[in-house]
Amino acid sequence: MVFTGSRPAPTHVIAHLSDMHLIAGDGLLHGHIDTRAQLRKVLERIEQSGERFDALVLSGDLTEFGDPEAYALLRELLEPVAARLGVPTIMTGGNHDERGALARELYGVDTDEPQDTVTMVRGLRLIDVDTALPGFHHGGLSDAQYDWLANELAAPAEHGTILVMHHPPVTYRSPLMQLLDFDDVERLRAVLEGSDVRAILSGHLHVTTFGTLGTIPVFVAGGVSYVDDAGAPRELLMGVDGPQSWNLIEVHADQVVGTVVPVEQHKTWPALNEAVVEYVATLPEAERRAALSTKR
Ligand SMILES: [Fe+2]
Ligand SMILES: [Fe+2]
Repeated sequence: MVFTGSRPAPTHVIAHLSDMHLIAGDGLLHGHIDTRAQLRKVLERIEQSGERFDALVLSGDLTEFGDPEAYALLRELLEPVAARLGVPTIMTGGNHDERGALARELYGVDTDEPQDTVTMVRGLRLIDVDTALPGFHHGGLSDAQYDWLANELAAPAEHGTILVMHHPPVTYRSPLMQLLDFDDVERLRAVLEGSDVRAILSGHLHVTTFGTLGTIPVFVAGGVSYVDDAGAPRELLMGVDGPQSWNLIEVHADQVVGTVVPVEQHKTWPALNEAVVEYVATLPEAERRAALSTKR
């Protein structure tokens, strides 16, 4: 028997991945990471999870060098999975991406302009803005992008908006990463104030972290490729081969919930006695809490 849950199901479920830093060919990222294998593992877990996803969000640093071959590899790995799940993919650029190659390979348009998009999924609006500034590793938006975003947000969507941007508008502990962060948090805060934006999904930091921009929660997905050692002295920037992860974002009518999912499948066991679980499943819903929650 399958539990349906005592709370209403989320209206939308999003798989939020970031910083895959794909390298075409046989090279290893930083000499350590097989980026193709890492993305494959994530996509396998997403498909095996049994979740009914509404969208796959990739929040930038899709590739390490921004070369066409790496974007082709991304499509090769991603498109069959998205097709089987029947979901749209929202892919925004990061500082390691190159706008021209990204636009040509992923969007089929020959331009160096940012590919900012709006995707409607059953009343939930997903907007992604490319915060990568050509020639730099820190992030920002042009005047035109701010205007475009304000215009898109002028009318609310039925279930509100999720904003996707590579550089998170929050302050991370690393002084080095602060030199490479989003350049005008106040301006973005002003544009989003009073809008229907319910959450911001970001990456770039290679660590799972959370913050707020005004009253809007910011969910930063840890890297699919490698992770920053958040336990190291803050003046260092140390890569770790693990614990890579992605975020399961559940949008409810009244809240947005983020859950970190490790890329690696670690050892598992039934954390609740299986006979108890089976027994509780046979009970009417009104009796389940008492049956499972009462201490014995
Ligand atoms: Fe990155
Ligand atoms: Fe980045």
